[in-house]
Amino acid sequence: MGKNIVLCGFMGCGKSSVGRQLAKKTKRKFIDLDRYIEKKNNATVSQIFASHGEDYFRELEHLACKEVSNENDLIIAAGGGTLLFDRNVTALSKNAVIVFLDTPLNVIKKRLENDTKRPLLQRADKDEYMQALYTKRYPVYEGACDYKLKSGAKPSAVVADIIIEKFSNVFEK
Ligand code: S3P
Repeated sequence: MGKNIVLCGFMGCGKSSVGRQLAKKTKRKFIDLDRYIEKKNNATVSQIFASHGEDYFRELEHLACKEVSNENDLIIAAGGGTLLFDRNVTALSKNAVIVFLDTPLNVIKKRLENDTKRPLLQRADKDEYMQALYTKRYPVYEGACDYKLKSGAKPSAVVADIIIEKFSNVFEK
């Protein structure tokens, strides 16, 4: 049984699309942590934030981290905030290698220009807020990861191939 692969990084960095490619190529199960939480709670992330607040969402997120780390051979796309909490890094890294998808902020901004699904970004000062959040979070992702991969300019299938090559030992049966 192989370790899980956890993809982390800022909202819009490509965690879900790279994760899907990686799962397809390696025939592993893909778990998008936000979708996992939504399914379990029968509510969208936006609905959870709106009705119970961010702290409550972070509790659900932590529970999800503990649950998925009981399994093996998973490809996991973390949420943009997941790895900012030590308790989640501890839970996930028990049984995973953590890859930080390092995508430049200008690429992310373009991707999330018309986003309505991320509660943290529904604000008038979105641009400045994203800049501040990115600057604050970048070193945390760097510190939590086992491997940092520049990924903004490459198609997700190419990024997936790089991860497969780098972690060939993890994928060996
Ligand atoms: C968040 C990122 C989102 C989601 C929630 C909070 C964050 O996930 O978990 O809206 O704190 O950066 P994505 O990175 O998949 O958008």
